[in-house]
Amino acid sequence: MPGIRLRSPEGRAWTLKEIVQGKPLGAPSHAMIIHFPVAFYIGAFVFDLLSRFGDFKAAPLAATWLIIGAFIATVGAVTTGLIDYLGMVPGSTKRTWATRHMLFQLAAFAFFVVNLILRFHDRYLQKAKISWIVLGAIGCAFLTVGQWLGGVLVYELGMRVSTAERGEAARRQREAAGS
Ligand code: HEM
Repeated sequence: MPGIRLRSPEGRAWTLKEIVQGKPLGAPSHAMIIHFPVAFYIGAFVFDLLSRFGDFKAAPLAATWLIIGAFIATVGAVTTGLIDYLGMVPGSTKRTWATRHMLFQLAAFAFFVVNLILRFHDRYLQKAKISWIVLGAIGCAFLTVGQWLGGVLVYELGMRVSTAERGEAARRQREAAGS
């Protein structure tokens, strides 16, 4: 049965690493956190566009804060992603795709770093500069391909996916351990 698991299937206390991975919740914490950086990066790009095509004078400033928020959320995504990544067998198909996924997400991050550096001094402008919009568009393109690579990892290669049979076996193991 899905739900919060107070102890591991072997009946011991969870390690810190397992807690960060989301194992007590029965689902990867990476998948729970990634919505925040994704939404913030895309939101920043859209606000920059709005500042030129709409009438929203504070949009570039809002976008600047969204980028900073995205960086904070990226720390959570990178931490949870790396913990799962380091547990993968080197040279395996999953690890190869995870490496590609990681590189695209880090490239997206890098484009937004440059974006933030270029814009910070001019963040009170009422219209976003074209260079900010171009960097935002490239960053979002890398982000989207990175999301697809993450999706391949989960939905094609079954990374951190528990089948009904595996879930049932874990439940029996927990019951046998008396948790
Ligand atoms: C060092 C950086 C990263 C590494 C090593 C990494 C690793 C992984 C791994 C191993 C998975 C497979 C599922 C899992 O283990 O939870 C995954 C899935 C995924 N990752 Fe990352 N990741 C990184 C950064 C990010 C960032 C920054 C984002 C978003 C901005 C992101 C978005 C995703 C998405 C959307 C999936 C698919 C999840 C799903 O559809 O449920 N990842 N990543």
